[in-house]
Amino acid sequence: MDEQALSLKLRIENAVSERFGEVIDAAGTGAGGAELARLVEHRSHRKFTPQAIDAGLLRMLFACALSAPSKSDLQQADIVHVADRAKVKTIVTLIPDMPWIDDAPLFLVFCGNNRRIRQIGLMRGKPFVNDHLDHFMNAAVDAGLVMMNFIRAAEAVGLGCCPISAVRNHCGRVSELLGLPDHVFPLAGLAVGYPALPGKISPRLPLDVTVHTDHFDETLLTEKIDSYDHRRHQLQPYRRQRHMDLYGTSGFYGWSEDKARQYSVPERADFGEFIRSKGFTLG
Ligand SMILES: Cc1cc2nc3c(=O)[nH]c(=O)nc-3n(C[C@H](O)[C@H](O)[C@H](O)COP(=O)(O)O)c2cc1C
Repeated sequence: MDEQALSLKLRIENAVSERFGEVIDAAGTGAGGAELARLVEHRSHRKFTPQAIDAGLLRMLFACALSAPSKSDLQQADIVHVADRAKVKTIVTLIPDMPWIDDAPLFLVFCGNNRRIRQIGLMRGKPFVNDHLDHFMNAAVDAGLVMMNFIRAAEAVGLGCCPISAVRNHCGRVSELLGLPDHVFPLAGLAVGYPALPGKISPRLPLDVTVHTDHFDETLLTEKIDSYDHRRHQLQPYRRQRHMDLYGTSGFYGWSEDKARQYSVPERADFGEFIRSKGFTLG
């Protein structure tokens, strides 16, 4: 193994071990090593330099993003480039606790678009008789895959990104601001720029919680989550505890406590109503 291959192997193994607490031999990754290293070293970025992104490069990143697979080749994902800084500022005002939206030189909104297929039905004189939840989900999944492809392409050229689902806390306002018509909905925003800091790998649940063989398996789930909480706490303890007004201060504050607290309070309960107002029946 040459020096470059060895260094990639070590990068992959170190990142996997930090992420999952498991040692996986990366010897077999061959020519794919550079891409795998980027995937396992992924981190969201929330601090950016002011350096602008070249327009030609951005066009290429859009092409990479929209090369993602698409359910039935329906191509139900669109990207809104929020180039007007006044519009970005309006979004920043709506989401003041995420200043990275303002810092980033680029802000995008990834949308599910179930409108075009309906327009195509009209163009071709055919009824559209699939107004149900699966159709909404197909558009949402396509938009998620396109956003992920954008992130992968951006990370490959040294950019960093932070998805912003908080745009859905204000979906009516954001939709109005961006002129999103019926059957087009925001999935998430994306703050993009050249990272000002290296960032950190965020530890994930162990693979034996999230990967199942032949049969869904929750054996020792509580113990595995406890152990993940402690491993994660050693690497990246939470700086703040959520909803202390409701739950006080926890002696040990791990990921599961944070997530349980987060979802003990209603969040985005009006999203279904917004989606129905966009013309979806979700039947
Ligand atoms: C669909 C989606 C929406 C997200 N929304 C936000 C957001 O509104 N604000 C934010 O700071 N991070 C957001 N994130 C980033 C997550 O917090 C981040 O991916 C997670 O903490 C794991 O960290 P990592 O991406 O560095 O591995 C979002 C991520 C995804 C995939």
